[in-house]
Amino acid sequence: MIRILFTVAAIFAANTLLAQESDLPSDFLSKDWHQERRAKLREKLPANSVAVFFANAVRNRSNDVDYVYHQDPDFFYLSGYKEPDAVLLIFKDKQTANNGTQYDEIIFVQPRDEQAEMWTGRRLGDRGTKERLGLEQAFNNKEFKKYNVDFSKFSQILFTDFENDVRDNPRDSSDLYDLIAQFKVKVNYPSKDKMALSPEPVKNNLNTRGLYSIMGTLRGIKTTEELTMIRKAVSISCMGQREVMKAIKPGMSEREIQGIHEFVFKKYQAEDLGYPSIVGAGHNGCILHYIDNYKPNITNKEMILMDLGAEYRGYTADITRTIPVNGKFSPEQKQIYELVLAAQEEAMKVTKAGATFQELTFATQRVINKGLKDLGIIKSENENHRYYPHGCCHHIGLDVHDNGQYDRLRENMVITIEPGIYIPENADCDKRWWSIAVRIEDDYLITKDGYEHLSVSAPRKVEEVEALMKQPSALDDFTLPELEKIIKKEN
Ligand code: GLY
Ligand code: MN
Ligand code: MN
Repeated sequence: MIRILFTVAAIFAANTLLAQESDLPSDFLSKDWHQERRAKLREKLPANSVAVFFANAVRNRSNDVDYVYHQDPDFFYLSGYKEPDAVLLIFKDKQTANNGTQYDEIIFVQPRDEQAEMWTGRRLGDRGTKERLGLEQAFNNKEFKKYNVDFSKFSQILFTDFENDVRDNPRDSSDLYDLIAQFKVKVNYPSKDKMALSPEPVKNNLNTRGLYSIMGTLRGIKTTEELTMIRKAVSISCMGQREVMKAIKPGMSEREIQGIHEFVFKKYQAEDLGYPSIVGAGHNGCILHYIDNYKPNITNKEMILMDLGAEYRGYTADITRTIPVNGKFSPEQKQIYELVLAAQEEAMKVTKAGATFQELTFATQRVINKGLKDLGIIKSENENHRYYPHGCCHHIGLDVHDNGQYDRLRENMVITIEPGIYIPENADCDKRWWSIAVRIEDDYLITKDGYEHLSVSAPRKVEEVEALMKQPSALDDFTLPELEKIIKKEN
């Protein structure tokens, strides 16, 4: 549908644009929760500083179609605001406005606009931001230009440096591009040319490095409210794996398997994917982040590696299961699978608050190297090989590879443990191992003495997987006419 302006329709739309509570789920994180996160950040900010956050950019796909908008996770964490073209400032100390009001946080948001809202959706505007998100100092982003706090008085202005990858919308004088440009003027942001020409590092009060790690100390430790969201995201993603285990049959396509997972996500009201779905049959599983998912017919003898995460109210799961398409692991598939499983279980044994990420990685590597040697796939346990080329663990949360501290595990962190073995065609080993790719990835909440295995409801053990794959599926009877036949009939 291209943009043709109907005045009558616009007038009609004006009455319907007020955001209706009944159209929205009721389990979003509360405004109090976001407010408390801002207070926690304030505690961690250095003396006499301000932290500045920009909303994510709108990315154009082509012509008048943009990529689906997703808010910057820090911005969402601190505000709950999900729209573009906004800037949020959080001050260590109280500031005094011209009218004498004291405040320590202020947000500038895109204004209400009936015409725009009719095309691209409802906006909160400054009033809605105050009411819904509890940000008392909320203003139209057009006012940011003349917002006259004296930035030179701060010891530090913390923000994430710009990549110069934000487009200007020439029809909007206060979009993200303009907000960044206005901010650069306000803080005396040095031009790249000036920095390149200066013999000494340019001295200023701009800190573009510190905010990421401060945010990591906050975001890496999940609150009870976040854990509720993560548990939902994880359970929904497990349900996708379970349904596929029942429904999969040789002859299905990678895309169809992806669709079953994603349908289950949507059925449970997950609004998004935490990352593009990875569904790779046979040798496609060797591509770690394979997202083409084009293979039209998965064959009887293959395994399929499925790494998918539902995003629920902003929080994502990250779960991988690898299963035999025909419901029964071949001897070689089973040997590699059980090796990966043993590696995961070895890491689980040392998983508790205080352990290091490195200890978990080494635990998986030790098991895999020994196992590959015992199977004759590598010649020595110390061999430099590429069959397990990735790390084993990362935080999950608002990002799939979430910001957090990566030294030691701490209580209420949520991490993955995800060993894998990938043996491409023509690998330097007996060819019976070729095209076997296995990753097993689970999500864990770290506790004082150990962990809670959040994704336990998706079977992992060989016998459990094979048993579930024998169960009937609600999709067994879901058949559609052949497309070619319909097309022929229509012509
Ligand atoms: N899904 C990406 C990863 O497992 O890290
Ligand atoms: Mn992962
Ligand atoms: Mn994954």
